[in-house]
Amino acid sequence: MELAGNDARPLRLSTARLVLRRWADADREPFAALNADPEVMRYFRGPLDRTASDAFADRIESSFDELGYGLWAVELRSSGEFIGFTGLARQTFPAHFTPAVEVGWRLGRSAWGNGYATEAARAALDFAFDVAGLEEVVSTTTRTNERSQAVMRRLGMTHDSADDFAYPLLPDAHPFRPHVLYRMSKQRGLATTRPPR
Ligand SMILES: CC(C)(COP(=O)(O)OP(=O)(O)OC[C@H]1O[C@@H](n2cnc3c(N)ncnc32)[C@H](O)[C@@H]1OP(=O)(O)O)[C@@H](O)C(=O)NCCC(=O)NCCS
Repeated sequence: MELAGNDARPLRLSTARLVLRRWADADREPFAALNADPEVMRYFRGPLDRTASDAFADRIESSFDELGYGLWAVELRSSGEFIGFTGLARQTFPAHFTPAVEVGWRLGRSAWGNGYATEAARAALDFAFDVAGLEEVVSTTTRTNERSQAVMRRLGMTHDSADDFAYPLLPDAHPFRPHVLYRMSKQRGLATTRPPR
């Protein structure tokens, strides 16, 4: 991960193929398109319309102002194309492991299958431990979201089924309520997330 900008609040992170950066107005249209795709939103409550998508982008940008990190907009270095987000979000919903900082990702379908989510998340984890000074980062998803859990495993995050939980913001009988929790400690993160130098 290369940092640009003030080290305390870097403006962008770079990886071999990606730039993770603050959001631009031009991201809103492609972001709305991916949020409207039922396949991308399969494990959420459903696709978002343009208003809800823009409101989400606003909340993401506020998080950068508040915490100095957030869900970075991800673009391809080769073309400058916006492909989605990857980054860090503070979770405060009631659960046995919260408050916590979560690493998360959402890419447009055409960007899947290239290792981009894992590459971007490695940079986000490096940031979490090297710059933000966090002791642990978690990741959660519904039990049936295999692609997301595969990213967690590729990152080297650990899973103990005793940590799994019922996502409290969904009704009791909702099929997405059973969630898995993966963890990455600072010690493990510093040892495993960065490519050899
Ligand atoms: C979850 C999500 C980000 C995963 O995307 P992904 O592309 O499968 O994950 P990665 O970026 O790690 O890519 C891994 C795949 O790229 C392949 N790949 C191709 N070139 C690669 C390269 N150069 N380096 C690494 N992997 C590469 C891998 O083999 C793997 O393929 P496989 O799925 O066939 O095994 C994506 O499915 C998504 O945005 N889903 C919708 C939103 C969502 O559910 N988010 C999570 C909510 S908690």
